[in-house]
Amino acid sequence: MNISTDISLKQYTTMQVGGNARFLTEATAAEEIPQIYHDAQSRQLPVFVLGGGSNVIAKDEGFEGVVLLNRIKGFEVVSEDEQSVTLKIGAGEVWDEVVARTVDMGLSGIEAMSAIPGTAGAAPVQNVGAYGQEIADTLVEVEAYDSATDAMVVLPAEACHFSYRHSIFRGSQMGRYCITAIIIRLSRRAPQPPFYAGLQRYLDEHHITNYTPAAIRQAVIAIRRDKLPDPTVTPNSGSFFKNAMVSQEMLDAIRQTHPDVPNYAMPDGTYKIPTGWLIDQAGFRGKELHNMKIHDKNALVLTNPHAATYHDLESARQAIIQAVYDQFHVRIEQEPLEL
Ligand code: EPU
Repeated sequence: MNISTDISLKQYTTMQVGGNARFLTEATAAEEIPQIYHDAQSRQLPVFVLGGGSNVIAKDEGFEGVVLLNRIKGFEVVSEDEQSVTLKIGAGEVWDEVVARTVDMGLSGIEAMSAIPGTAGAAPVQNVGAYGQEIADTLVEVEAYDSATDAMVVLPAEACHFSYRHSIFRGSQMGRYCITAIIIRLSRRAPQPPFYAGLQRYLDEHHITNYTPAAIRQAVIAIRRDKLPDPTVTPNSGSFFKNAMVSQEMLDAIRQTHPDVPNYAMPDGTYKIPTGWLIDQAGFRGKELHNMKIHDKNALVLTNPHAATYHDLESARQAIIQAVYDQFHVRIEQEPLEL
């Protein structure tokens, strides 16, 4: 096992802030995982599993523990029938390469999640989603190392308790599991409308009526390229805040001053308001503050163009949260995890 010491986390997280990890090691096979946890436990150190680092923010004080880079590969068909194909994918596979391969196979189910940075194993952690699809819709089960029982386990999708950008892996069971593979079932059927509004608009504008997985992938890539900054060019973590879930009363109160507030009714009776809209209304779109910049084409994205510190990020975050609260009485929450 190759263990590095005092490694800067900036190079392993796309926001590029924060200090050093005390130890950092890489796993390329599931069999290596238990030993890494045993070694960490013998030193009484926590383990943090890192994929592409595109949804994780490191703090300036760094991480006094073991960062485990999950680089477990694998892409295999485990079963298929007339309607569907079930695939087992190594947690360390690059997510978008997985999407591209499934689209090439003519399969539907994750094509709208094209061009999302990160790894396959990270997808269930925050129930990754975009343009009307989320991993919870296609996930069958997750293979993982369970550090609480020191055993390899299989967790069916129901056990992951998925909700909007959430699962047990970042909630009640945070730190317990190291996901080694995901098993997803994709459809041989063409993608079915109705599509997410922004996606449908793009398809209509480009006169695309043959809804193949490849056509959807191409459309999503074009939309994302226009709206989201490339983390390899300008450091960022995608959506920096979760969308806001508010009560009917809250929505009505906002409507008093902003009759045009965009909102989506949720199955549980609450309403989702795009936090990008709230931040935009608060006047932050395109603004620089505390060495950070709110993306000019999408106020939900915070970028780090001047090599800011976590402290800067924290100050910018606080200013945005406070301004949105002062204007709308809605308390918005950060989306990326913290190391
Ligand atoms: N809006 C504004 N101003 C802005 C940004 C957005 O007014 O600066 C309003 C617009 O009305 C727009 C609406 O917000 O129609 C919604 O924006 P968009 O469709 O771009 O989606 P989003 O709610 O901002 C979510 C996900 C994205 C995902 C897109 C598309 C979250 C936190 N974000 O963004 O996910 O790609 O939908 O499905 O749920 C990510 O998680 O990193 C991410 C990029």
